[in-house]
Amino acid sequence: MRQKLVAGNWKMNNDLEQGINLTTQIVELMNQQPSLNVLGVLGTPFIHLPQVAKLTASTTMLQVAAQNCHQEPSGAFTGEISCAMLKSVGVTYVIIGHSERREYFKESNELLSRKVDAALSEGLTPIFCCGEPLSIRESNDQMEYVCHQLTSSLFHLTDEQIGSLVVAYEPIWAIGTGKTASAAQAQEMHEGIRNHLASKFGQEIAGNIPILYGGSCKPGNASEIFAGPDVDGGLIGGASLNAEDFMAIINSL
Ligand code: 13P
Repeated sequence: MRQKLVAGNWKMNNDLEQGINLTTQIVELMNQQPSLNVLGVLGTPFIHLPQVAKLTASTTMLQVAAQNCHQEPSGAFTGEISCAMLKSVGVTYVIIGHSERREYFKESNELLSRKVDAALSEGLTPIFCCGEPLSIRESNDQMEYVCHQLTSSLFHLTDEQIGSLVVAYEPIWAIGTGKTASAAQAQEMHEGIRNHLASKFGQEIAGNIPILYGGSCKPGNASEIFAGPDVDGGLIGGASLNAEDFMAIINSL
């Protein structure tokens, strides 16, 4: 059985106090549903991570993610954060290759493969993001585009390594735009991603990798998107900044 998972990506939002308040509310709501079978992950800015990890330590159904990491273990990289540092404050997941990092910080498929290696070598679970821009969707080349992202950054991994990874499909044209992929478009891409992973790592391993959908996922549309058999949860931006909305999305799974 694949792990069902809803990860919030706060992006560059919330000061420390706001982040603590939001986390406290989410922990309270999660504790009201002890039999919930869905893992919640809070992807916060670096400054929040130690406190969010402490606040969530009482429930195994909440884990903490960084939104980025550096590919080197340590050294003269002013302003950067290593995976060992993340691990030392209780982080267990790290979002790698978000389209905003690819676009604004020019992160290449090759660099992302090194970040995946760095995360895995510290025992962190990468949430590896892929997804196509609008122009690629309009020319109907999205499957080739996303498969190329996966091949370039993940196909050097061992079976064991790929088995401890989460993939997030985030069509760039649906991020923060209010436009979502239709449930059929999401399922088609998720199935294609799983088949592509299976072509390299085999059906059994690919069948156990959670694949999340991201892009304007909200309480009102989550159930429909999550109904796809290859959609194992979501990576949530805007709606993860509100505790009730985030919980409503978790409950839609
Ligand atoms: P929105 O949910 O705000 O569209 O953001 C999606 C996203 O980028 C999550 O990583």
